[in-house]
Amino acid sequence: MKNLQGKVAIITGASRGIGAAIGKRLAADGAHVIINYSHSEGRANEVVQSISAKGGEAKSVQANMRDPEQIKRLFDETLETFGRLDILVNNAGMFALKSLEESTAEDFDETFELNVRAVFLAAREAAKRMGEGGRIINIGSINGDRMPFPGGALYGASKAAVAGLTRGWARDLGPRGITVNCVQPGPIDTDMNQADGELAGVQKQMTALDRYGKTEEVAALVAFLASPDSANITGACLNVDGGTNA
Ligand SMILES: NC(=O)c1ccc[n+]([C@@H]2O[C@H](COP(=O)([O-])OP(=O)(O)OC[C@H]3O[C@@H](n4cnc5c(N)ncnc54)[C@H](OP(=O)(O)O)[C@@H]3O)[C@@H](O)[C@H]2O)c1
Repeated sequence: MKNLQGKVAIITGASRGIGAAIGKRLAADGAHVIINYSHSEGRANEVVQSISAKGGEAKSVQANMRDPEQIKRLFDETLETFGRLDILVNNAGMFALKSLEESTAEDFDETFELNVRAVFLAAREAAKRMGEGGRIINIGSINGDRMPFPGGALYGASKAAVAGLTRGWARDLGPRGITVNCVQPGPIDTDMNQADGELAGVQKQMTALDRYGKTEEVAALVAFLASPDSANITGACLNVDGGTNA
């Protein structure tokens, strides 16, 4: 039997990049998956088709994670489609660089609305619907611990908040047998952080392995944390960063 047989997972921001890889991996491990997206309908449907082609079960659901009503609808639709919820992966996020002097109140709100508030609202909806054995996995960043270049303060602070929420929710939900963990990627080749992008050289140099990570390598850790094998791990923040923060 596959590791996640009979489980249902929501992955937010799963039309591209790390989220798409997580969706494909959890489906390969036997979960029925909801592929959430905001704008990229075609890319989300491609993820669903690639899962179906391999015999997996998936459905794409549009919901802007900045909107509390749409977040609630995402969870309602998941229950209507697959009848239960076992795993939430809070992956949707944004990254922007700006100096302190140039940053505005709107920049602060824009970053925290998606990287922190959406994570909070989605975890709350999940907690109302999950039973014993449930899993919440938040995608943070190694920049929540260390910020090696200028202009990333709002992003780093938002990911530090994700780590803080993870630890608090581990305490809140532990008595119900639900684990909450945080996966902190280092540089991973996606649209957000291209391996041939402007900041790529310095990021690659900071890894111990001298390379960018692959989306599948983040998905592998998420799959482990989603599985029954991780039952005694909660409140942890685990890096997939090629040794960047070593
Ligand atoms: N790549 C890295 O090096 C790296 C490193 C550390 C942490 N991370 C974190 O990993 C996560 C995924 O990053 P990525 O590199 O895969 O990013 P990406 O390539 O930019 O993809 C972002 C995904 O999030 C979705 N999204 C954006 N805004 C959304 C919204 N308002 N509602 C719902 N979905 C939304 C996008 O969907 P649409 O196309 O439909 O908008 C897309 O599927 C983020 O939390 C990021 O901070 C990434």
